[in-house]
Amino acid sequence: MAGSGIFAEIIGGDVFNYYSDGQWNKSSSGKFVPIINPTSRKIHFKVQACTQEEVNKAIESAKVAQKLWAKTPLWKRAELLHKAAAILKEHKAPIAECLVKEIAKPAKDAVTEVVRSGDLVSYCAEEGVRFLGEGKFLVSDSFPGNERTKYCLTSKIPLGVVLAIPPFNYPVNLAVSKIAPALISGNSIVLKPPTQGAVAALHMVHCFHLAGFPKGLISCVTGKGSEIGDFLTMHPSVNCISFTGGDTGIAISKKSAMIPLQMELGGKDACIVLEDADLDLVAANIVKGGFSYSGQRCTAVKVALVMKSVADTLVKKINDKVAKLTVGPPEDDCDITPVITESSANFIEGLVMDAKKKGATFCQEYRREGNLIWPLLLDNVRPDMRIAWEEPFGPVLPVIRINSVEEGILHCNASNFGLQGCVFTKDINKAILISNAMETGTVQINSAPARGPDHFPFQGLKDSGIGSQGITNSINMMTKVKTTVINLPTPSYTMG
Ligand code: G3H
Repeated sequence: MAGSGIFAEIIGGDVFNYYSDGQWNKSSSGKFVPIINPTSRKIHFKVQACTQEEVNKAIESAKVAQKLWAKTPLWKRAELLHKAAAILKEHKAPIAECLVKEIAKPAKDAVTEVVRSGDLVSYCAEEGVRFLGEGKFLVSDSFPGNERTKYCLTSKIPLGVVLAIPPFNYPVNLAVSKIAPALISGNSIVLKPPTQGAVAALHMVHCFHLAGFPKGLISCVTGKGSEIGDFLTMHPSVNCISFTGGDTGIAISKKSAMIPLQMELGGKDACIVLEDADLDLVAANIVKGGFSYSGQRCTAVKVALVMKSVADTLVKKINDKVAKLTVGPPEDDCDITPVITESSANFIEGLVMDAKKKGATFCQEYRREGNLIWPLLLDNVRPDMRIAWEEPFGPVLPVIRINSVEEGILHCNASNFGLQGCVFTKDINKAILISNAMETGTVQINSAPARGPDHFPFQGLKDSGIGSQGITNSINMMTKVKTTVINLPTPSYTMG
């Protein structure tokens, strides 16, 4: 159960504490932030509403702790990360239970998220000792006009304090994808979890606490974005921000100081289906890609661009699979569970109604109960409908029938997003040419978009973000290059 067993110290009364300076604390604000269960729509958990002063203390402790941590041998950093990963995996059940209650993630997927997170932390530890254990050696006489009088040594050093802001849909996994690279690189970390998902994140942080990381190196502050959001992102002692979420990221990048930013801000991932595609494979991928976790993934298939000649057959195959999706509470491990908030459900409904008014074909009847929206495929969507461009983050998927591949590519590239896309065809040459033409960070050939495996590079173009993620890229991004140049005596002083 949440907040019990080894997690008992993270809760005080009925409010979960925040973590700073190596301990679990109650906020002096005397206030809490309620966490609404998307299924019951009632308060399920409460977390501390930290004050700016408490956030400031956490950042300042992180700054102090980082100096010593940077001097801790790489293999020791890796050892602690492996320990945290093992504790996390061992205690997957209570953490997964939080994900079920806070974000309505289907029970099995919730366990998968925690296990994947442990694996990510371990992989990061292994990758870090190798990647950061290497530097460069340069000699000066390869540049015109120079003698061999300078030896240049480069290595990678930490940035300082990394601020991690993960989203509600992966509050554990997308938190550790920032925490682990930061720590292995010698940085300290301040985590601001999403409100929904905060309790799962606090449990995860406790696993790091139990692993024995130094005091102050990791903190997790909870509270209202309106109270502590700007304070965190504009804090002069923050040296790097890694953010995943919506367009708040654009505002952060405008306000933040001159520090490295890693931003992943959503997508309108297009799926282009050619005439020669294996339509059973396409249907399976569209249903999995479009509807898993009720479409609340930045990498979900968000628009299917299908060649007219195969559209009828494909739509039928998709509908047959949609009919088999189970709809209901996350505790029952249903495929489709309530979306995160009532306002999200209202937004999704707005997109659906706009499409209806403008003449889209509803392949299923539109149905909603509270935050639960039944899966819906919208056929014959046209570019004048909002759903052709906007990201529903829900279980509704538009199909646009196209006359040519060029039309599909044009639609994909006209989007302000550019995260991932996919193309289905048996012709590998065509697939590669289409991938080259699509303005997205990644193109999957014959599979739905996905971030993982977690060591693959992951990045968005345009409004989908800046910087590249994936374990190695994140480690690289959270370090800077340090150079030492050894100046030798000029040749005239040397023998011969
Ligand atoms: O929601 C954004 C995530 O980065 C998507 O990750 O492809 O593993 O579901 P995923």
